[in-house]
Amino acid sequence: MTVNLVIGTQWGDEGKGKVVDYYSKDANYVVRYQGGNNAGHTIKVGKEVYKLHIVPSGVIQGKIGVIGNGVVIDPEVLINEIENLKSRGIIPKIMISDRANIIMPYHKILDGAEEQNLGNKKIGTTKRGIGPCYSDKIARKGIRAIDLTNKKTLSKKLDEILPVKQKLFKVYKIENKLDKKEILDTYIGFGTSLKDFIVPTHIELNKAIGLGKNILFEGAQGTMLDVDFGTYPYTTSSHTIAGGSVIGTGIGPNHINDIIGIMKAYTTRVGEGPLPTELFDKNGKHLQQKGHEFGTTTSRPRRCGWLDLVVVRHSCLLSGITKIAITKLDVLDGLETVKICIKYKLNGKEIDYFPANIEDVKNCKPVFKDFNGWKKIERSSSKVSDLPKEARKYLEFIEKELKIPFALVSIGPGRKETIEV
Ligand code: IMP
Repeated sequence: MTVNLVIGTQWGDEGKGKVVDYYSKDANYVVRYQGGNNAGHTIKVGKEVYKLHIVPSGVIQGKIGVIGNGVVIDPEVLINEIENLKSRGIIPKIMISDRANIIMPYHKILDGAEEQNLGNKKIGTTKRGIGPCYSDKIARKGIRAIDLTNKKTLSKKLDEILPVKQKLFKVYKIENKLDKKEILDTYIGFGTSLKDFIVPTHIELNKAIGLGKNILFEGAQGTMLDVDFGTYPYTTSSHTIAGGSVIGTGIGPNHINDIIGIMKAYTTRVGEGPLPTELFDKNGKHLQQKGHEFGTTTSRPRRCGWLDLVVVRHSCLLSGITKIAITKLDVLDGLETVKICIKYKLNGKEIDYFPANIEDVKNCKPVFKDFNGWKKIERSSSKVSDLPKEARKYLEFIEKELKIPFALVSIGPGRKETIEV
């Protein structure tokens, strides 16, 4: 039995979809445990490209996809994704935690309104209702998956919640009238479509562990978007670090074997908030264009910068990462010089940790180490020794700095363009 965990070490979009797909080979279950359809995972199988936002990527390989209690679910998006997969010949096997919170129409409306209210201090959310849904969960005003299967319960909850939301709409000058009957009927309809999938997934997963099954946890977003340890308040609303996986599924931490940190060979971020190694020059354009750095969920261009090892070290420490999968190394092809940030300069002092104060983060100036670039990585490379010597030097430096071994080196989007180390 193995229980492995794959998480993003940066600001999300590290290429988790491909790595999860790779590790799914040996898994019986692939599990999402936090976030919602703010995530976007792209999986390329031959000529087919799948973009998933809420269904765990492993289902493409016929694995059982579990959506844990820590996830927030937009049922409409989930049903559409399931139908879309079916139309492409994949019948997804899915289990949804009865305790997962549901994104309601007012969450999406409030996400947009709260952002607008923040003006130039906005977070740059995906406007999928993620933050307002998690806020309600913590405030104990959430609708959970199980509630979609019981009209009486849902009706009672809506009677308590809707008048308060309607008052909040007034504060934000939102014109929408929340129609209880329409919401109730729509969400009970979603419940009818999903009821066979809604189960106590914590029991199922613990049973599976007992039976010696292989389980892969699929993190969404990345460490720097963690609500406690990321660039708060410019973060998402869930726990993206490894600890989130046990809270978001109801399994004990003692069951986890490997924690695989995914690290893109450079850095990107979507939305607002500081990004110390951000590039505004031709190198930044190179990374954005060659790396197709446009959001899977919102199509927004991603901000790009050099690899930041202060960030990745922070991630490794917080999540106890045991192996690193580096992605998109090929995107650095053709650059004359490649840089890695090894520490920051803050108010004249060198620091090697990520500060808590967002104003300090904004003032951090990266200290770089320069590396010679390389022309091109052959896509058929199957060993690290096939890579150009400059690329090997880049990898050796990272491994030495992090003191964590590489498990995978990804040199292209396809399944085959992956070097096992
Ligand atoms: P929210 O999760 O929609 O509330 O957005 C909060 C912040 O997290 C914004 O900066 C988003 O751009 C960012 N974010 C959320 N999900 C992802 C993701 O999957 N990849 C990258 N950034 C994300």
